[in-house]
Amino acid sequence: MKKINEMIYDNILKKLKASKKLGELEGKIISGEEIAKEEQITRSYVSKVIAKLIDKGYDIKRVNRMGYIYQSDMKVLDEEYIKSHLTNQRNVQVLDSVDSTNNYLKKMKKNEKMEEMVVIANAQTAGRGRLGRSFTSNNASGIYMSILLEPTFSLEQAKKLTCLAAGATAIDQLANVETKIKWVNDIYLNSKKISGILTEAATSIEQGSLEYAIIGIGINMYHQEFNEDIRKIATSIEDETNQIISRNDLIIAIINQIDKYIQHMDDQIYMDEYIKKSFIIGKYVELYKNNQLFKAKVLSITKNGELQVIINNEVQIVSSGEITRMVITNE
Ligand code: BTN
Repeated sequence: MKKINEMIYDNILKKLKASKKLGELEGKIISGEEIAKEEQITRSYVSKVIAKLIDKGYDIKRVNRMGYIYQSDMKVLDEEYIKSHLTNQRNVQVLDSVDSTNNYLKKMKKNEKMEEMVVIANAQTAGRGRLGRSFTSNNASGIYMSILLEPTFSLEQAKKLTCLAAGATAIDQLANVETKIKWVNDIYLNSKKISGILTEAATSIEQGSLEYAIIGIGINMYHQEFNEDIRKIATSIEDETNQIISRNDLIIAIINQIDKYIQHMDDQIYMDEYIKKSFIIGKYVELYKNNQLFKAKVLSITKNGELQVIINNEVQIVSSGEITRMVITNE
């Protein structure tokens, strides 16, 4: 698509915003024809600009053949606002679309010397989950962000970053809900997944040390049409609570909480939070380890974030790295 003229984009946004009076839920309807005339552009150009605004998170209702109604900018990502509310200063970059925010940081890190930063995308074209799965993130209805961390901690500690990030995903406080964690990286609300975490790290083999770590977090915030298989297992905060939570505020809360936990990495407070929220303790599971199926009962989660299970009457400890698939069963 041809690049949209910035001035026209700004003018249309201003006009839409001005159509809504303070205290009103939505603006008055503005016709595409009127905008086209004023900006001296075609109707299809207007429609392109509106599509771009919607991609950025603006709530704009299209009314068939009549025009557009501006509703809110509650969902729009704001780089400066996020940056100015972080307790630890770091660079923040908001992108319209990228293959994967984790990939983006990896590439950046390869090409240039970079300090700690956060990248957030309105959409990902190839969002990734653990174990080679994909993560639906093709429009501005979620938080898709990756945090690049310099090694202020050891490689051993880095193995616990997924648990740390899951414990820091401050959805409960902002949405007034009680989320649960499914070991090792999924966050559930009302028995459906609303968030997943993908932690990746680069290590130096010679020195056996950590070079950098990336925490990738995906959260389904607003209603979206998931495809059929996903609809059965995934949901969004809006679908479950009828609330529109600001992506900016949740992003800030999560990053600040992660920083706090990292500063106190050895105190393990995050692990207590993680264990408290884990819903597979006491459950029966099927674990696929080296392509072999094991039936197990989960006894607990250790301070290192591993699973303590009983397999064939024997207590065993398994780490997430060993498991290729886990299914919760009735027995
Ligand atoms: C999972 O469900 O297994 C983990 C999902 C992680 C998704 C996030 S979205 C931001 C970051 N970029 C990615 O490609 N993946 C993570």
